Amino acid sequence: MFDDVVDFVRSIYGKEGVIPLHNPLFIGNEKQYINECIDSTYVSSVGKFVDKFEEKIAEYTGSNYAVATTNGTSALHISLLLSDVSLGDEVITQPLTFIATCNAISYCGANPIFIDVDKETMGLSPDSLNFFLSENAVMKNNQCFNKTTGKIIKACVPMHTLGHPCRVSEIKEICDKYKIILIEDAAESLGSFYNGKHTGTFGSLGVLSFNGNKIITGGGGGCIITDDEALAKKAKHLTTTAKVPHKWEYTHDMIGYNYRMPNLNAALLISQLENLKSFLSSKRSIAMAYKEFFKDKPYGFFEEPVNSQSNYWLNAIIFKDKEEGDSFLHETNSKGVMTRPMWTLINKLSMFKDTQCDNLDNARWFADRVVNLPSSPIIHS
Ligand SMILES: Cc1ncc(COP(=O)(O)O)c(C=O)c1O
Repeated sequence: MFDDVVDFVRSIYGKEGVIPLHNPLFIGNEKQYINECIDSTYVSSVGKFVDKFEEKIAEYTGSNYAVATTNGTSALHISLLLSDVSLGDEVITQPLTFIATCNAISYCGANPIFIDVDKETMGLSPDSLNFFLSENAVMKNNQCFNKTTGKIIKACVPMHTLGHPCRVSEIKEICDKYKIILIEDAAESLGSFYNGKHTGTFGSLGVLSFNGNKIITGGGGGCIITDDEALAKKAKHLTTTAKVPHKWEYTHDMIGYNYRMPNLNAALLISQLENLKSFLSSKRSIAMAYKEFFKDKPYGFFEEPVNSQSNYWLNAIIFKDKEEGDSFLHETNSKGVMTRPMWTLINKLSMFKDTQCDNLDNARWFADRVVNLPSSPIIHS
C-alpha cells in the first residue's frame, strides 16, 4: 500500500539494508581530534576541546555563554535548578515531548503542568498558555501561584519539536507578565531560528542535546546557553561538582553534579560543528524532496512554521488517523525503512497520570497521526 513511499525513501538513502531514522555522519576531522585527545591524555572533563566547543556554540547561537554538559537531560536539570525550581514547585511544559523534559522537572522535586501545542508548530501554544494562566494563575508577592494547587508556577519549558521553532517570542511575553522563568528545550533544534534568532536564546536559559540521533553528535553531550554571566558561572560551578577553584585542594561549597562534558565528546563535537552548515543544507534538500513527493498524497508533510528556519531534524508526515499511521509504520518497518511515531504523550505515562492538564486536543491529534521519516544528512565525498 505504501510501496511508493518505500521506493522514494530508498531512492534517497540507497537500495540495500535497513535505512535508519537518523544516523550520525563522520566525514571531517573526528579521528584527528580524538587522537589529539588520546595523545594529550586529556580525555576527561578538562581539556581544550571542551573550552573551544563552548566558545563555538556561543558564537554560533549568538548567546553570550555556553556551558557544555554530559547530555541534554543534565543541561535541563541544571537549568531548572538555576531557575530555583525546587520541591513542590510547578513547571509548565507540553505533553508532546521526549521524556527527558519531564524527568528533569521531577529530578528537582517539581511537578509539570501540561499545556497544549500549536497545530502550526507542534510546540507549546502561547494561546493555550495565556488562556490557562488567565484562568488559573494568581499573582502574590510578585510570584505566580496556581489557584487549583496553591503552588508556585516557577518556570515554563517549551520544546522546539522535531527542530521546528515554536512561537517563542509570544511565550516569552506571557512568561514575563506572570514572572515565570523561560527555559527553552532546544535539544532538537540546533541550527533552527525564529525570526532570525537561534532557538534557545529567547529565555533566560536554553538547552541543546548532542545525543547520537541529533543533527550533530559527540556520542553524548549537551549544553546550556545563556546571556547571563552569573547564570553561566553558576552552571559551570554546579556541573563541576561545585569545586572551589584551587591548585590542589578539594573543597566544595555546595552539593554539585558531575555533569561536565568530557574532552573526548567535545573533540568529536568540534569536528561535527565544522560540518554543521553542510548537514543543515543536506537536511533541507531532503526535506524539500519529501515535501515535493508528498504534495499530491492524501497525507501531509509537516513544513517549517512561519517566521522560522527549521533544521528539519526529523521529517514528519501526518496521516488521516491513527489506523492509517499504524499501517504505514508496520509496512515501512517490515520493509527495512525505519519510521517512528511521536512519543506517547507524557500525561499518559503512569508517573505523570495525576498531573494537571489543560485541553490537549492538538497534542492528542499529533500523537495519533504523526510518523517520522528517515532524515539523516547525506554528504557525498
Ligand atoms: C526534546 C528533548 N529534550 C531533551 C532531550 C535529552 O537529551 P539527551 O538525550 O542528550 O539527554 C532530548 C533528546 O534526547 C530531546 O529530544
